[in-house]
Amino acid sequence: MKARKIRDGVYWMGAVDWDRRLFDSLIPLPDGTSYNAYLVQGSEETALLDTVDPAMSDILMSQLESVPQIDYLVAHHAEQDHSGTIPLVIEKYANAKVIATPKGKEMLVDHLRIPAERIITVDDGETLSLGDKALEFIHTPWVHWPETMTTYLREDNILFTCDFLGSHVATTDLYVRDEARVYEAAKRYYAEIMMPFRKIIRKNMEKIEGREIDLIAPSHGPIYDRPSFILDAYRGWVSEKPKNAVVIPYISMHGSTREMVEYLVGALAERGVTVYQFDLAVTDIGKLAITLVDAATIVIGAPTVNVGPHPVVAYAAYLANALRPKLKFATIIGSYGWNTKVVERVAGLIPDLKVEILDPVLCKGGPREADFEALDDLADSIAEKHQEHGFS
Ligand code: FEO
Repeated sequence: MKARKIRDGVYWMGAVDWDRRLFDSLIPLPDGTSYNAYLVQGSEETALLDTVDPAMSDILMSQLESVPQIDYLVAHHAEQDHSGTIPLVIEKYANAKVIATPKGKEMLVDHLRIPAERIITVDDGETLSLGDKALEFIHTPWVHWPETMTTYLREDNILFTCDFLGSHVATTDLYVRDEARVYEAAKRYYAEIMMPFRKIIRKNMEKIEGREIDLIAPSHGPIYDRPSFILDAYRGWVSEKPKNAVVIPYISMHGSTREMVEYLVGALAERGVTVYQFDLAVTDIGKLAITLVDAATIVIGAPTVNVGPHPVVAYAAYLANALRPKLKFATIIGSYGWNTKVVERVAGLIPDLKVEILDPVLCKGGPREADFEALDDLADSIAEKHQEHGFS
């Protein structure tokens, strides 16, 4: 794809990666992604904002064939999907300087071996004039590495945010046209990458608010020409108040734990609680992460294997702990054969979840009447607690 004009002197560049299905060898990308770079040409100087993943360097370098001069290369983020083509760009433009935060400079030297003398650091709020356009650099750390920053192009009211506010979507749409599709992709991205840092993201959002913003141009996914769409979504996601929802990731080896899960799902639904049920043997882990953004309670369905939890459940619990969602309550249900320490073992996997642990429901073999009564009690307890806290 060729460069695409956004405003006079402002162009989208980059690559659409239709076929990528995994990021960081961990995160599913069902809709592919894009690596967006942006060219800003002032009356005197020119800046390139971010580059592309090294696997797609040839596409960006081909787009740059018609660009005679680049004076600055703004590196919002040192992760390789944006910084990986910097070495080729600064080789082509021998006088270009890389611009980064002080932490970003350190990371670009460490990760990409970029010569330190090619990098200029900028303070929070510093501006750089390109002639009739000026770039304002806003430090927005921890979206999702410590060095990240955002750039505001005041003459055109464009905010370039890199990963922040982005979405993993491969599309030919330069601007968001299918909001429902991009909403899910952006929420998935937030859940998998940004959620642990929501406290600092709230501060970053305060920093960018107050500016007039016509376009938000991230480095993944389409540009937002209705910025309130993504800003309003983020406000809800980063708030600490969850919804009246329960997530139940589980696995079942012989059907007993599944029977318990299905009974509890029905009991919660009867009490007006929204439930998301995930069989970890088949689920897309990204879908699980999306529901963790808003849920108030997690119920982990864990059969016992050799006294502890099934390893697939252990993985999901570890992941939920790492993502640090705004959950308020947690518990465990499941079946065991002859003995179990599943509660202690699973609890040990989620130390970073600041949750109240509700009474677990474990049964030896298949569930009987008393077990179903205990599940009814658990459903009562969850529904009451959600109501007491005003979760809706
Ligand atoms: Fe899109 Fe953190 O890289």
